[in-house]
Amino acid sequence: MAKLAINGGAPVAPGGLQTRWPIIDDTDRAALLEVLDSGKWCSAGFYYEHPLDSKVAQFEKAWAQWVGAKYAVAVTNGTASLTLALRAAGVEAGDEVIVPAVTFIASATGVILANAIPVFADIVPDTYQIDPDHVESLITPHTRAIMPVHYGGYPADMDRVMEIARKHNLVVVEDCAEAHGTEWRGKRVGSLGHLGSFSHQMGKPLAAGEGGSITTSDDTFARNAYSFGDLGRVPGGGKYDHYIPAGNNRMTEFQGAILLTALARLDHQTETRYQNGEYFAKELDRIGGIPALKRGDPRITKRGYYFYFLRYQPQEWNGLPRETFMAALNAEGIHAGTAHNQPLYKSPLFEDMSFGRTGCPILCPHHGEKIDYSSVHCPVSERVYDTEVVAMGKDFLMDRAAVDTVLAAIQKVKDNLDELK
Ligand SMILES: Cc1ncc(COP(=O)(O)O)c(C=O)c1O
Repeated sequence: MAKLAINGGAPVAPGGLQTRWPIIDDTDRAALLEVLDSGKWCSAGFYYEHPLDSKVAQFEKAWAQWVGAKYAVAVTNGTASLTLALRAAGVEAGDEVIVPAVTFIASATGVILANAIPVFADIVPDTYQIDPDHVESLITPHTRAIMPVHYGGYPADMDRVMEIARKHNLVVVEDCAEAHGTEWRGKRVGSLGHLGSFSHQMGKPLAAGEGGSITTSDDTFARNAYSFGDLGRVPGGGKYDHYIPAGNNRMTEFQGAILLTALARLDHQTETRYQNGEYFAKELDRIGGIPALKRGDPRITKRGYYFYFLRYQPQEWNGLPRETFMAALNAEGIHAGTAHNQPLYKSPLFEDMSFGRTGCPILCPHHGEKIDYSSVHCPVSERVYDTEVVAMGKDFLMDRAAVDTVLAAIQKVKDNLDELK
């Protein structure tokens, strides 16, 4: 009789893992009602007598402190925060920004919406993070910024990224959308580059449904980020005084309120996910054939998580294709996928060069050279997506019993490989 659920056996987790995200309590309810009843739902500075009267301003202060930066500017989402951070740092039409090929599309569209040109770098095979050697080889006279993405919550090699940036006089904007709480040499991401960008979308470790934030310790960048996020106004300036062309990317007071209450739980949640993530990695080593990303780098003092990436080695599973492994795992009630499916340059946006009638900003006269994404080839990124990565969402890491259930399902597939021939 079949044991594996894919063949009709009983699943390890019937109905899937019963984990919940976001986690809320009465403090969130009270905070939201307080804003609702106050009638002040907008965070624009001119509504408030004192700068810290608004929930968003309170969140910005607390968040900057938590990250270890001088300033935080809260905005509408983590795509806008990337664009605003780049614009705040002076990135303009014709500038190139180096981004990893393996990330969510927003890392690249955030660049395009700042009028700039994303240039794709490959990743390091055992960390899945931007490859500093490749970054250096991609630098041209047009390069203006590097955007390391702490993909899945694993930190990019910030020592090398900052060293390259210093050498070539480039700005570093960290995409921390997936990495709240991740530390490099004891400092939290978002405080390591010149600017950091976070997402507070519903699935993220600090969530408000939608939302984003920019962190920086640079006075000018902070002021610029504020202006680019609020119609060209300056902090403390007049309601109708506008100095630069900018949209409205203000966060609402509801989001500010719920981020403040959620922030009170973030230390504990980060630690729980970290401890369970370490435990999971050790147990995976025991099962074999599906290691976690590299561990033991002493510079990584804490891992935050958005995805947990597993590196599937088919040769250690009797050559079982990764797709069949994932289908078997999914049938057991454990959801696993590939996260983002393909290197960004293979998405239709870049393959079809879908940049409108003029082709701007990619075919930009300020840049002057022909950009052709069809010639981009990042071998590690392609191999990882084609055959290796197995990605799980972070939520099971909040619960040791759920981690054990995932391990039991992986072990079960391994023990019954014969059924999958
Ligand atoms: C790496 C990365 N960058 C940027 C973003 C964009 O954030 P948002 O969805 O808040 O616009 C995300 C969101 O998933 C992301 O994963």
